[in-house]
Amino acid sequence: MTIIVTGGAGFIGSNFVFHMLDKYPDYRIICLDCLTYAGNLSTLEPVMDNPNFRFVKESITDRDAVYKLFEEEKPDMVVNFAAESHVDRSIENPQVFLDTNIIGTSVLMDACRKYGIKRYHQVSTDEVYGDLPLDRPDLFFTEETPIHTSSPYSSSKAGADLLVLAYHRTYGLPVTISRCSNNYGPYHFPEKLIPLMIINALNDKPLPVYGEGVNVRDWLYVEDHCKAIDLVIHKGTVGEVYNIGGHNEMKNIDIVKLICKELGKPESLITYVTDRKGHDMRYAIDPTKIHNELGWLPETKFADGIKKTIRWYLDNESWWAPIVSGEYQNYYEKMYANR
Ligand code: NAD
Ligand code: TYD
Repeated sequence: MTIIVTGGAGFIGSNFVFHMLDKYPDYRIICLDCLTYAGNLSTLEPVMDNPNFRFVKESITDRDAVYKLFEEEKPDMVVNFAAESHVDRSIENPQVFLDTNIIGTSVLMDACRKYGIKRYHQVSTDEVYGDLPLDRPDLFFTEETPIHTSSPYSSSKAGADLLVLAYHRTYGLPVTISRCSNNYGPYHFPEKLIPLMIINALNDKPLPVYGEGVNVRDWLYVEDHCKAIDLVIHKGTVGEVYNIGGHNEMKNIDIVKLICKELGKPESLITYVTDRKGHDMRYAIDPTKIHNELGWLPETKFADGIKKTIRWYLDNESWWAPIVSGEYQNYYEKMYANR
């Protein structure tokens, strides 16, 4: 089995590469990643010498490069993690989100049509469903919930999902889609809530909470997401969408306070800043379908996962220190100064 994993130098993609090489020693895993600001080759160092692993630095939007790779490797499957993934950046500059998330997806699927494939899997997000109101805790996203996006990021992911389903119906491409809630764990890029708060707290810097901090996200440990995708690509039904989430809703402010407590830092570091434009209030996944059809259940409780994650950032400063000292500083200034 040869699998092209796109975006494998990012947060979830790298965790998936590790999971697959570990669980299937006879699989060949090819990581296709153009190394944007969010891609980090040092993350993949532990597997670079593995004979079953190959890294290819190209963009999923580069048709010639993608076709060449398909000719060389004749993949059985593609799992597409490659994306621009940060909502705040999409609000600043939507264009690159459309290029990578929509055009890139179409290029990959065109290659699948041209060369043949057993499965094309699209890694999507619960954000395609828009948000839920805070005063209706009885409501959850199911696979039937209408697409109703809020940000340029979620709109680009929704556009890609629609294209994937269209390639299935029109060309019979054997596709699956998974829509997961917010992930956390090792190798999470420091611009996102949990790693940003851990690293700022460690450096005694202000902890910028958007609005009143009451927005709710449904957090899942990254390994549980990887295991769910593993199940979907091997046992999922072609043409189907699977929601992935662990019923773990938390308010942002409670997460930030928990991080302060775990690190022994004062809550006085918390600073309320101007809210994100169009900020989604609540995400909450109903994972009944993947549980009933494929037997998936999350294994890591949030209380344990967050401790493991904080421990990982404490032990791996050599991974994040170079990131936060480089171009990230300019991003941080632009995003957070005078907010
Ligand atoms: P990330 O930003 O950490 O990593 C994205 C990776 O894609 C990087 O390695 C980057 O270099 C690569 N990439 C970007 N543009 C590319 C291009 N044109 N060609 C090749 N590679 C490119 O993202 P992540 O958090 O790991 O998310 C991975 C996928 O999972 C995304 O599709 C995202 O929409 C989805 N997702 C993420 C979450 C989450 O909580 N992080 C939740 C649900 C779904
Ligand atoms: P984020 O990690 O960007 O994920 P997403 O917006 O895709 O869910 O943000 C998670 C939540 O945390 C979201 O409600 C926005 C909020 N947030 C802050 O309050 N402060 C921050 O500095 C960041 C990055 C996010």
